[in-house]
Amino acid sequence: MPFAMTDLVGAEFPLFAFSHCRDVVAAVSRAGGFGILGGSSFTPESLEIELQWIDEHVDGKPYGVDFVVPEHQDLGGGIDLDKIVERIPQKHRDFVLDILARYDVKLDPADVINRRLPPTLPDIGERLMEVAFRHPIRLIANALGVPPRSMIERAKQHGVPVAALVGAKEHAVRQVQAGVDILVAQGTEAGGHCGEISTMVLVPEVIRAIAPIRPVPVLAAGGIVTGEQMAGAMAMGAQGAWTGTVWLATSEAETSETIKRKIAEAGSRDTIRSKMRTGKYSRQLHSPWHDAWEGPDSPGALPMPLMPMLTQPALTQTERAADSGNAKAYELATYWVGQGIGMIDDVRSAGSVVQQFKEDFATAMGNIIAQLD
Ligand SMILES: Cc1cc2nc3c(=O)[nH]c(=O)nc-3n(C[C@H](O)[C@H](O)[C@H](O)COP(=O)(O)O)c2cc1C
Repeated sequence: MPFAMTDLVGAEFPLFAFSHCRDVVAAVSRAGGFGILGGSSFTPESLEIELQWIDEHVDGKPYGVDFVVPEHQDLGGGIDLDKIVERIPQKHRDFVLDILARYDVKLDPADVINRRLPPTLPDIGERLMEVAFRHPIRLIANALGVPPRSMIERAKQHGVPVAALVGAKEHAVRQVQAGVDILVAQGTEAGGHCGEISTMVLVPEVIRAIAPIRPVPVLAAGGIVTGEQMAGAMAMGAQGAWTGTVWLATSEAETSETIKRKIAEAGSRDTIRSKMRTGKYSRQLHSPWHDAWEGPDSPGALPMPLMPMLTQPALTQTERAADSGNAKAYELATYWVGQGIGMIDDVRSAGSVVQQFKEDFATAMGNIIAQLD
């Protein structure tokens, strides 16, 4: 069956898999889906290594990259690392260390801040993009607003379609006007940064809102962990599914053992949409971390990019402690996950997840057609 996405980006089956892990990206693309590497967790040097590895392991199949270059963030510290770090108040640092102490997680106060220039800064985004365009990427995506002009221009020069994630129809209209080629309509069920509208409402709403402007294909995202859900989204007019959470619990994913186990144990009500990790609303596994930060003694979230610089070392250290058997750290551990975790019960290979999606998608389509008789 020919899919519109096969023409546009070369994906045999329009299942898009966002992952920070190169092994997942390559495995999904090899299995006929389309892997997208989350590029913002890398430095330009490490991104080069990851993309070279993908080029060598993807058997010529198509893949893409994704960056987070937010339209709105607090750039008060410029690109001077010391100035940025200075803007993180002592009371916030103490609050983090206090939570960790209560959950028996040891972190040297000197290491409480991630002293790396935030990848969300526009200058860093530019350098990451330069690396990406040196590779045979078939898609470049941006999260958190209209992509920088340079992303759209460079992508056009390289003949690479630009995708953008949107959580509201107003944002979709602005993205189409700015020139993006693919919209990812991401509902509130999604892991990571998300808005308030459910996928079921957002997808048809976005399709309707952009129709009078320009025919831009829409991918559905948020809560999709099965082929039946993918078929449902495509029945609403989406050209494919864009997924994230389902890949966290695959054997190839570098997700910590703690988070893989917590995902398998969790239900769909065990997530929270909170600013208390990055400074912008993102959906995460609910843990005492959020209860503390949302509680009466909390100093409140800092804006992006300060908040992730403050929370990342603490939460990484918590996962490490939990992986080494610290039961209190296990309780505190949290990660970005979507509501679809309620349907994930075990860890499987990424290739077998793609295969299962294909089978369940075909069954669901058959079921719809059978009901027309
Ligand atoms: C752990 C995690 C990290 C994410 N980080 C990003 C990111 O850096 N950039 C981005 O565009 N989307 C990011 N997302 C969102 C995904 O691209 C995708 O839209 C979302 O996962 C879809 O919803 P689902 O998680 O219910 O499948 C992330 C999602 C997860 C689960």
